[in-house]
Amino acid sequence: MAMIEVVVGDITHERTEAIVTAANESLMGGGGVDGAIHRAAGPRLAEAGAAIGPCDPGDAMATPAFDLDPPVRHVIHTVGPVWDGGGHGEAEVLASCYRRCLEVADELSVSSISFPAIATGVYGFPAEEAARIAITITSASTGVQRVKLVAFDETTGDLLTAELARRSTVRTPLH
Ligand code: APR
Repeated sequence: MAMIEVVVGDITHERTEAIVTAANESLMGGGGVDGAIHRAAGPRLAEAGAAIGPCDPGDAMATPAFDLDPPVRHVIHTVGPVWDGGGHGEAEVLASCYRRCLEVADELSVSSISFPAIATGVYGFPAEEAARIAITITSASTGVQRVKLVAFDETTGDLLTAELARRSTVRTPLH
């Protein structure tokens, strides 16, 4: 079970062993958080992404972190769902993004990972439901010890914090 922490800030400043980027299927970089991470990691990130892509929505693939400072060793690229009203499996694809990133992190023996609010920007996924999915999946069992959910704005941060508090106060009934 990982320790989950919500922070508000720029994910490129996080010092976890892996940093997740909300990519597009080409893995060659884009705008938003993907653009910020590619700028910080340098041009080799897009080359490495192109070499392993394309990546299906809901899947995750790792590359080295290149120019990102230690202890960041890996960038885990995941492709979120484009929100289309909620009736097209978007929630399942987003849950898969978080699950696959944790699986890839486990395979790399990563002990700490930072996530952005995947799909809640350009892809339009409602932030409240996305926060519920992020907390639900990262609360499940994983070998990763520390999970940081990095919001870029206070509203997203508040949603994640409220969801985390709600989950931690839910007690399993004593037998
Ligand atoms: N640090 C942390 N979070 C950030 C940063 C940053 N530097 N920059 C943006 N964000 C936040 C956004 O505010 C949003 O909450 O990341 C979240 C995800 O937004 P996007 O980056 O737009 O990602 P997404 O909605 O998944 O759309 C992906 O956008 O940039 C393109 O190539 C990308 O096509 C892909 C699409």
